[in-house]
Parts: sequence; C-alpha cells; structure tokens
Amino acid sequence: MVPLIDPFARAISYLRVSVTDRCDFRCSYCMSENMTFLPKADLLSLEELDRLCSTFVRMGVEKLRITGGEPLVRKGILTFFEAMSRHLHSGALKELTLTTNGSQLAKFAEPLAALGIKRINVSLDTLDPEKFAKITRWGRLSQVLDGITAAKAAGLRVKINAVALKDFNESELFTLTDWCAANDHDLTFIEVMPMGEDMGDGLRLDQYWPLKDLRQRLADRYTLIDLAERTGGPARYVRLEETGQKIGFITPLTHNFCESCNRVRLTCTGELYMCLGQEDMADLRAPLRASPDDAPLEQAIRAAIARKPKGHDFDYSRQKIKGQMTRHMSHTGG
Ligand code: GTP
Ligand code: 5AD
Ligand code: SF4
Repeated sequence: MVPLIDPFARAISYLRVSVTDRCDFRCSYCMSENMTFLPKADLLSLEELDRLCSTFVRMGVEKLRITGGEPLVRKGILTFFEAMSRHLHSGALKELTLTTNGSQLAKFAEPLAALGIKRINVSLDTLDPEKFAKITRWGRLSQVLDGITAAKAAGLRVKINAVALKDFNESELFTLTDWCAANDHDLTFIEVMPMGEDMGDGLRLDQYWPLKDLRQRLADRYTLIDLAERTGGPARYVRLEETGQKIGFITPLTHNFCESCNRVRLTCTGELYMCLGQEDMADLRAPLRASPDDAPLEQAIRAAIARKPKGHDFDYSRQKIKGQMTRHMSHTGG
C-alpha cells in the first residue's frame, strides 16, 4: 500500500490514540477542575477503535501509542491492548505503548508486559506528595509510585514525563533527576503548551519555564552529551556523563520540531487531529460507520493527511501568548 505522506514530505508512521477523555486526575495544565466528560454512548467502541487502528497499521503506521485522558481507566482496555498486540506479533507494528498517569499500573503492569509492551511513559511532575495533590487536584503520589514500582518489577522500561513549570517544580530539578538515576528511569521534560481554557489570565505564561534554562541548570552540574538517538517522538536526548542517565527535552516553544513530525492523533470519538497545535480535524467516525468496506475510510484518512499543516503556532515570546487553543490537552492525549 502507498505510504502516508503529507504535503511537506513527512511520512506518517506514528498514531496516538486517545481511548477515553476521562481521567482520575485533573492536572491543571491539562484539564479544568470541572470537566464535562462525553457521554459513554458517544465513544467509539473498542471494536471500532480496533478497526481504525488496524487500518492505519495497514497504511504504514509502525508506532501506536495509547493515551487518554487516562487510558487505563477505559473499561476493557486490556482486551484492546491484546487485540493491538497482534500487529506487534505480526511485525507490522514496531512499537505498541502507552502514556499513563500511573495510577492504575499496580493492576495493569504485568498483563501489559505479558502482551509485549516494553516501554511506557508515566506523567509525573513532582515527588512532593502535597505538590502532587495540588497539580493533579487530588491525586495520591504513593499510588503512582507504587504503580511505577510494579511496572519495573514487570520488566517495563519507564520514562518519566515532567512538564517543566516555573515556581512549581523548578526547585525539584535535581530531586527528579537523582530519583530517576537511582531508579533507572529515563526522564523527559516538556515545555508547557498554551492549551485549555485557563488561558485568559496569562497562567501558562506565568508557568512557562523554557527548557534552554533548565538545560543550562543541568549543564552547570553535569556534563551533557548530546545523543543522536531518537524514540520516534519529538524528544531530543542527552546523557549525563557523571550518572549515565538519559534525559529528554520536548521543546515545542524554544525549538520547534515540526519539520520532522511523523504523527497524527485520533480521539475516542473518531476525530483525527493532524496537528496537536491546530484545530483542524477530520471526522473518521462517519466513514467508519457508513460501510463495513474499509476503502472509504482509507480515502478519508488520505484526504486528512493531505491537509496536515506545517506546524503549530504556539509562541510565548514578547510576553504574550500566541497560538493558544481552548481545546484541552486531554482531548487528544498530548
Ligand atoms: P516517545 O515514544 O518516548 O518518544 O514518546 P512521545 O514523546 O512521542 O510521547 P509522550 O506521550 O511521552 O509525549 C510527551 C508529550 O510531548 C506529549 O504529551 C505532548 O505534550 C508532547 N508532544 C508529543 N508529540 C508532540 C507533537 O507532535 N507536538 C507537540 N507540540 N507536542 C508533542
Ligand atoms: N503542555 C505540555 N504538556 C502537557 N501535558 C498535558 N498538558 C500539557 C500542556 N499544556 C502532558 C502531560 C503528559 C502528557 C500526556 O501530556 O504531562 O505527560
Ligand atoms: Fe506535529 Fe503539530 Fe506537533 Fe508540530 S505541533 S510536531 S506539526 S503535531
């Protein structure tokens, strides 16, 4: 089959699928406190998601990341992972993975590892229980730490994703780094993006901690060795010579990585977002439900990829937020 190539000659090989808009936490940069969730009847069934994902895999997707909301709160999620693992076993998928808040990992880590998942990303911005409860609005840090321990025990490689937030986890840079080194977790920092409705008060701008500053702070203490290695996502990595650990940087604001974009995002209602930082999306639910024949669906996917934009317009320069979007990050799963 002809591979999926967008108008900027980028091959689309990475699909991120949000299987639910729900989450048991409410991270303030991701959701509002009083989110209204979709009625369950609006969600695509797991069989429909299977058909959609399988179509993408047939069309050249090699990396599938399951996200949410929190993917592990979707009922029947293990059955879905099991179904997707057939593409891993057939060799069509190089990687099947997930991004999770970790709260359900104590229960799910072992069965996920048994299905062939090797590596997971866990969102964790602080190691202080009170700050954790504050940023997630009520989460219990110990539950997540237990989940991470279970993941390691099950043989999963863990990457911690920390959103870099000024005046919040700035003071924990070395606490987080040292904890990851001691526990053999990779660690990636992410610049906060201007999404969600809390924007009018300049909150995101106040929270913004550019990763070039964070990187400099690391470089003051450690020798940073740039790594050529990539994981198929937007992160660029360094190794700290003194500890040997790998640290990633996801820098949508200070260093736009759109020219090498390889991904699109599917929501739990079948909307395909061609860019995290743009509002344009294509409805795949209609062609999915219109016919059991996959040809119209494939056509709709090609038509969507043909309008993938060059990149996002996020910008905090000149002390103003540009490119901000009211869509919550939880809608498309980051
Ligand atoms: P790896 O496979 O480990 O490289 O993961 P990944 O970085 O592709 O996935 P992950 O879910 O860990 O992504 C971390 C965060 O990076 C996301 O939640 C987003 O905040 C951000 N991110 C990922 N992809 C994009 C992208 O295409 N554009 C922008 N602007 N941000 C992205
Ligand atoms: N900016 C940057 N990253 C975000 N995430 C959620 N909201 C934002 C935002 N506004 C990240 C989470 C998690 C991933 C799913 O998305 O921390 O790692
Ligand atoms: Fe791709 Fe859009 Fe992300 Fe840029 S912002 S890397 S184009 S999804």
